[in-house]
Amino acid sequence: WSVDKKIDNMTGYPQIDEAAAYLLNNEVVAFPTETVYGLGANAKSDEAVAKIYTAKGRPADNPLIVHISSTRQLQDLVAAIPEKSMKLMNAFWPGPLTLIFQKKQGAVSEIVTAGLDTIAVRMPDHPVALALISASSLPIAAPSANQSGKPSPTTADHVAKDLDGKIAGIVDGGPTGVGVESTVIDCTGTTPIILRPGGVSKEEIESIIDHVEMDASLKDKEEKPKSPGMKYKHYAPAVPLFLAEGEPNWVQSLINEKRNQGLKVGVMSSSETASYYDADKVLDLGSRSNLSEVAHSLYDSLRALDEAELDIIFSEVFPETGVGAAIMNRLDKAAGHNWIQQKK
Ligand code: TXA
Ligand code: MG
Repeated sequence: WSVDKKIDNMTGYPQIDEAAAYLLNNEVVAFPTETVYGLGANAKSDEAVAKIYTAKGRPADNPLIVHISSTRQLQDLVAAIPEKSMKLMNAFWPGPLTLIFQKKQGAVSEIVTAGLDTIAVRMPDHPVALALISASSLPIAAPSANQSGKPSPTTADHVAKDLDGKIAGIVDGGPTGVGVESTVIDCTGTTPIILRPGGVSKEEIESIIDHVEMDASLKDKEEKPKSPGMKYKHYAPAVPLFLAEGEPNWVQSLINEKRNQGLKVGVMSSSETASYYDADKVLDLGSRSNLSEVAHSLYDSLRALDEAELDIIFSEVFPETGVGAAIMNRLDKAAGHNWIQQKK
């Protein structure tokens, strides 16, 4: 990783000490994590945290994840640490897993937790994020550093496009690795529940604690999500996106039909089939047998399609195993749950 030395334009690319000084001064700063870029602020300050919501245009009822750099910081934030949470922390921290705890009253600004008695905490696995949090000696509240409703940013450039002029700075650590957000899991009840699929898979979690469930709203769109943020329509491109489940030749027939109507068509494809398609823009997301490639390129692809001035986009459907569950959760949301299936 490298921190860009330039500290020039409006937004600037401050280095860690300068970024930590901003945080201590209750300013907001974007920084890389292993999942996506975060927009950080001092979690203890109402003034600082309010700036996150303003910069992003984020609804006030959507709570933030508090980022820490050492497990010692956890004691100040939470009322209790359940045994299963302890096991998961030992297995996956630092890493793309966010845990929900009963919060310690008064530990962070009420705005962070949006009035809930629980608090979401994670320790990111990125040297820049860890160095920044530890240089500030603060718990850092940080949502993804995108404009609310846009795909999460996986490069400093994405952050600059969305938030230039609205935040104190961006620490550039290059493209993020995982590419989708952390898994959010609630272990405060009897059965642990995954509220948001993400960088750590259900299979990996179940190798550490025996049984976890997916929040009912992840399968049934009529159910109310337990995680406030999951109810918002996210990542929707400006033009209609459809998830096309079927053989490539059938997907190509959908493309042809639209192109014959004079429409510009984009395709989100796997490497296995990308060269097969004839469309106005074909994006190769990565191999079906290496879904971490697909996760890594997903948000950049959605942004690229948004900029390509298309009329309609079709996406292939990926397996829901491992990180595939997070990929399909984000694609399904981006498509507004619109699927087309090939007739058997
Ligand atoms: O990978 C990530 O998690 C990134 C990086 C920057 O760490 N952060 C991120 O934050 O994705 P954000 O704000 O975009 O998503 C946080 C999710 C939201 O769905 C929010 O509703 C949920 O976590 N959340 C936060 N606090 C919660 C709580 N106390 N109970 C249930 N859900 C909570
Ligand atoms: Mg977000």
